[in-house]
Amino acid sequence: MFGKLLKSKNTASGSDDLDHDFGPMTAVQTPASGVSSNGNGLIHKVGKPVIETNGIMKTYKMGDEVLNALAGVDITIYQGDLVAIMGPSGSGKSTLMNILGCLDKPTAGTYKLDGVDVEKMNDDQLARIRNQKIGFVFQSFNLLRRTPSIENVAQPLIYANVSGRERAKRSREALEMVGLGKRLHHHANELSGGQQQRVAIARALVTNPAIILADEPTGNLDSKTGAEIMCLFQTLNAERGMTIIFVTHDPRIASHCRRVIRIADGRIVGDDLTTDFLDACKGDTFRE
Ligand SMILES: Nc1ncnc2c1ncn2[C@@H]1O[C@H](COP(=O)(O)OP(=O)(O)OP(=O)(O)O)[C@@H](O)[C@H]1O
Ligand SMILES: [Mg+2]
Repeated sequence: MFGKLLKSKNTASGSDDLDHDFGPMTAVQTPASGVSSNGNGLIHKVGKPVIETNGIMKTYKMGDEVLNALAGVDITIYQGDLVAIMGPSGSGKSTLMNILGCLDKPTAGTYKLDGVDVEKMNDDQLARIRNQKIGFVFQSFNLLRRTPSIENVAQPLIYANVSGRERAKRSREALEMVGLGKRLHHHANELSGGQQQRVAIARALVTNPAIILADEPTGNLDSKTGAEIMCLFQTLNAERGMTIIFVTHDPRIASHCRRVIRIADGRIVGDDLTTDFLDACKGDTFRE
């Protein structure tokens, strides 16, 4: 069903519907909880905290020098949030995403993921909780290139010990969800960049995680394809209540979110809610 919403008809026919004027974001004072609508039928629901960090530090020792990649990050992300993280190169965005995604451990501070204290977990425990609760999307897709989409999507289910038949069923459903029901058996190297990223999103979704984390998911895509990915994120967020956090350098991509967190020198320097975020899915729907 999500395939119907992926791309506007105008875009499919080559017009520039998605290149509209991206105005400045308006900060509002309301807390990031409750229910809101952007006026285009996309209801944004936010609920209980799924991520709570307190004083997260990440320190690297390089010879005599100590580098604070994260210098005390307090962050609360709510169920149903769609959040963009922005900041200059080297400000700590990927370091933060890796810690939020249990790929890395903080040097100090506390981190509660979906109610579970994770900062003191060992590597095996982290791997298990990561598989259960987190779906990752990377800038460079990270797909097995000569492998069919359906098998790429099934990878996290292998680690979760799901049976072969169930893996195929759930992978097919996830690919249908991202509008790739007709590309199940295409190898990754037979797909466009945007399609590859949608396969990667299906792979992130297939375990039904609490949170999707995406580090510059549109960084390798042109602006129109990037807007399609944002449309998909908005739809998953609005219709499925998925919590999605992504890093972007592009203010136009960030302007599709209700919440934008800014980071500089390893610290949070801004956390704004907007009432007038953009709907990437506007216009007619598209079918494969
Ligand atoms: N393994 C590491 N060892 C030492 N320093 C590191 C390591 N990983 C990251 N850093 C440093 O930590 C800081 C934050 O890096 P990070 O990758 O989080 O930045 P970023 O905000 O994601 O940047 P970009 O926008 O370029 O991706 C940088 O100064 C980087 O050099
Ligand atoms: Mg980075």
